[in-house]
Amino acid sequence: MYKFQDSYQNEVHLSFSIDPYSNNPKHVWVICRYKDQWLLTEHRERGLEFPGGKVEKGETPAAAALREVKEETGAVVSKLEYIGQYKVLGKGKTIIKNIYFAEIERLIHQNNYFETYGPRLMFELPSSVKNNSKFSFIMKDDVLIYSLKRVSELLTSNKK
Ligand code: GTP
Repeated sequence: MYKFQDSYQNEVHLSFSIDPYSNNPKHVWVICRYKDQWLLTEHRERGLEFPGGKVEKGETPAAAALREVKEETGAVVSKLEYIGQYKVLGKGKTIIKNIYFAEIERLIHQNNYFETYGPRLMFELPSSVKNNSKFSFIMKDDVLIYSLKRVSELLTSNKK
């Protein structure tokens, strides 16, 4: 389990075990890979981030992950893997978010990307995401760093 602060100085707990904080999380975040690129979305207010959002009533977190990826990028997911979960102890409330890794099969153009400007593909994420104003605050704490490490281990073991 990891503990650190986010860019708003909220305490964050992160774990790569199964449902460490809740088996009914209300938020999801999906690290997406399309061919040899990262697939992000550009949120209208927050900026560049991996897609995600809230789990709707009656929806499973995995279904929410697929829906959010589709809504915000137009992507069709071929494989979705649970990676871990994090908890943000905010000023007013605590949120719990599942982290997934998604392999993308194809991107379908949409006229509406909900609260985002749609898909953004990147061969590399800049090393200085934390100081880059184009990126969303949700990309600016150690959740991203530890999760990408996890994804790279996963990709290596999937190749074996
Ligand atoms: P409503 O319930 O619709 O009002 O949503 P909200 O605007 O309060 O936002 P939400 O419930 O999504 O998140 C509440 C707070 O949790 C945000 O203001 C952030 O401070 C924090 N938060 C949400 N997602 C993340 C995240 O991925 N990382 C970090 N570090 N904080 C997050």
